[in-house]
Amino acid sequence: MTVPDTMRAVRITAHGGTEVLEHTEVSVPRPGENEVLVRVSAVALNNTDLWTRQGAYGLPEDPDALAGWRGPIDFPRIQGADVAGEVVAVGDGVDAALIGTRVVVDPAIYDGDGPDAHPVGLMGSERDGGYAQYATAPSTHVHDVTGSPLVDEQLASLPTAYGTALGMIERGRLREGETALVSGASGGVGLAAVQLARAKGAHVIAISSGSKIEAVREAGAHEVMDRGGDVTQQLREVAPEGVDVVLDVVAGDLLTEGLPLVREGGRWVVAGALGGYAINVDVRRLYLHNIQIIGSSMHTRAHFEQLMDMARTAQIEPMVAKTYPLAEAAQAQDELERREHVGKILLRP
Ligand SMILES: NC(=O)c1ccc[n+]([C@@H]2O[C@H](COP(=O)([O-])OP(=O)(O)OC[C@H]3O[C@@H](n4cnc5c(N)ncnc54)[C@H](OP(=O)(O)O)[C@@H]3O)[C@@H](O)[C@H]2O)c1
Repeated sequence: MTVPDTMRAVRITAHGGTEVLEHTEVSVPRPGENEVLVRVSAVALNNTDLWTRQGAYGLPEDPDALAGWRGPIDFPRIQGADVAGEVVAVGDGVDAALIGTRVVVDPAIYDGDGPDAHPVGLMGSERDGGYAQYATAPSTHVHDVTGSPLVDEQLASLPTAYGTALGMIERGRLREGETALVSGASGGVGLAAVQLARAKGAHVIAISSGSKIEAVREAGAHEVMDRGGDVTQQLREVAPEGVDVVLDVVAGDLLTEGLPLVREGGRWVVAGALGGYAINVDVRRLYLHNIQIIGSSMHTRAHFEQLMDMARTAQIEPMVAKTYPLAEAAQAQDELERREHVGKILLRP
C-alpha cells in the first residue's frame, strides 16, 4: 500500500472548548527507529480527551493551572489514545513482515522496560494520537489481533477504558466469588469494569443513573443502584455483608460515605474523581479493618497482554454507542460530555 504525504487530522493548538479542535491537513508522520506507521481504522474517545483539551488536570503546585494529566501539553497535539488499524510501514530496526498486520496500539508510554513498569504518558497527550488517518507507535506497542472476531470499533474501544478497568481489577486483586462495587458504570471505564469483573466471576454491584441503568444490567451487573437516590442506603440493602473491592472513578462523597461498607481486608481502587478529588476519610475505618485505598493509573504491559488475549478470543465484547467521521470530532466530544450514552463513542478516520 502506498502511503500518501499528507493526511486529515484533528489536533488541538491550545486548551479550550471544542472550538480548539482543528480539522486540518498535515504531513503523514514517518515511523522513526523501532516504530511502525498504523493506518487508523477506528479511534475511541475517552474522558481524558475532554480533560486534556480543556487543560483540566491542574498541576501539583497549582491545582487550577491549565495542564494535561502529566503536565503542560506540547501543542499542536493530535488527540486520541485508542487506535485499531493496520501496520502500513515500518522504521529502521523493525521487521517488515509486520506490514499488513491488524493491530491494537498500546497507548501507554512507560517509565521502564519490565512488564510491571508504570505508565507515565499517553498517545494523544504526550505524543500524537489517532484522531488522524495515520499514527506512529513503537513496534513493541502494536499487538496482533488479526484473528479477533471483534470489529475494529470494538478493538479500538479496549486500550484506555478496558486497560484502566483491568488495571484496577488487578491492582485491587479482585478474586472469583468476591463482591465488586463499580461506580460511573455506564461510562467507558465503568462499563468495562462491570464486564471484566463479571468475567472474573465476581458478584457485581454497579452505580449508574436514570435510563442507563438497564443497559448496565444487560452488560453484566447483578445489581444496579441509582445514584439519584441514597447510594449508601441502597448498598446496605443489596450487600448487607459489605463489598470486597470497589472499582471507583467517582470518589468524592462516595468514598467518604462508602468506606464503612467495605469488608475486612477490602480494597478501594480509585482511578477517577468525577465526584470530587478532595475527600474526607475517617482513617479509623482503614486501619481497624485492614482496608486499602489504592490509586490506579491505566495499565501495565502485563495487563495489556492479558487484555489482548481476551480480545483475540472475544472473551469480552465492548459496547459501541456511536461512530462519527473524523471531521465531526467536536460533535463526538460534545456527545461524550453530555453522558447520555452507554458504551464507547468512536471516530472512523
Ligand atoms: N486513572 C486512569 O488511568 C484513568 C483512565 C481513564 C479514565 N480515567 C478517569 O475515570 C473517569 C471516568 O472516565 P470515563 O472515560 O469512563 O468517562 P465517561 O465515559 O464519561 O463515564 C463517566 C460516567 O461516570 C458517571 N458520572 C459522571 N459524573 C458523575 C458524578 N459527578 N458523580 C457520579 N458519577 C458520575 C456517569 O455514569 P452514570 O450516569 O452511569 O453514573 C458517566 O457516564 C474520569 O474521571 C477519567 O478521567 C482515569
